[in-house]
Amino acid sequence: MGIERIAVVGGGTMGNGIAHVAAQHGKSVRLVDVSSEVLERAVATIAKNLDRQVRKEVLDEAARDATLERIETVNDLEAGAVGVDLVVEAVPEKAELKYSIFETLDRVADEHAILASNTSSISITEIAARTRRPERVIGMHFMNPGQLMKLVEVIRGLATSDDTTAATVALSEQLGKTPVEVNDFPGFVSNRVLMPMINEAVFALMEGVAEPEAIDTVMKLGMNHPMGPLALADLIGLDTCLNILEVLHRELGDDRYRPCPLLRKYVAAGWLGRKAGHGFYVYD
Ligand SMILES: NC(=O)c1ccc[n+]([C@@H]2O[C@H](COP(=O)([O-])OP(=O)(O)OC[C@H]3O[C@@H](n4cnc5c(N)ncnc54)[C@H](O)[C@@H]3O)[C@@H](O)[C@H]2O)c1
Repeated sequence: MGIERIAVVGGGTMGNGIAHVAAQHGKSVRLVDVSSEVLERAVATIAKNLDRQVRKEVLDEAARDATLERIETVNDLEAGAVGVDLVVEAVPEKAELKYSIFETLDRVADEHAILASNTSSISITEIAARTRRPERVIGMHFMNPGQLMKLVEVIRGLATSDDTTAATVALSEQLGKTPVEVNDFPGFVSNRVLMPMINEAVFALMEGVAEPEAIDTVMKLGMNHPMGPLALADLIGLDTCLNILEVLHRELGDDRYRPCPLLRKYVAAGWLGRKAGHGFYVYD
């Protein structure tokens, strides 16, 4: 089955990047969010990022304009999910919120539609169990920023069918991505490995081992990472990092995933990273 019409639910950090890359590769995209303000900001962000691609001569102006024309915004989930081949959900990393959205999507989306989640850590099997089409539910985990990063972690739930997996892999390739299939386990591969490193960097900061710049410089120059873990946490969103660590801690039942108290404190303060203008660093 070819996937041509896509709804992206959630127009925040990830949703706008996913909408961008899908529209850029010729898909018709409906971007859905509860907030009209978020939708306006998402389209402005996509336009700004497309302009950057034009300046870098990755895209021409006609392709930029055609990409924007392929994106429609809707602030009603029920209307937004009708008449598409695939829904990619990218709402905050809260299990109950995702369950309720998938229950709605299952009720309103076309029968053939695949329902994918961009979740970083929540069980695809459990999300799928809330629907009457668990064979057509899958994880499609884009990396941040979604329009640029090459990887899509494709997560098969226990009931996900081979057809659904094949269609998701094929779509990822059409979007210029490299899909990697993994099984459904908390945090999958990406966040199972990444989050303990970020958490340890926050512990190092809390314990006064070094300042944020020093921690990040050690990891960049010493380990050849393109970004330090604290700058990366600011990019991901500290609330998202905390939510993922809580899933790892709870589901794997091991204290090595215990979220650092300093991370909790920053989230409580609203210091959520780049999107809030303040995290481990301050942004304009
Ligand atoms: N931030 C990252 O680096 C990153 C990377 C990969 C995956 N993810 C995952 O992607 C998902 C989204 O994360 P994010 O960082 O984009 O979050 P975000 O907070 O930036 O955006 C979430 C958006 O969802 C919207 N929303 C909330 N409830 C909604 C509803 N009922 N219907 C429609 N929209 C609703 C919010 O208004 C917000 O705009 C999470 O599952 C996260 O774990 C995040």
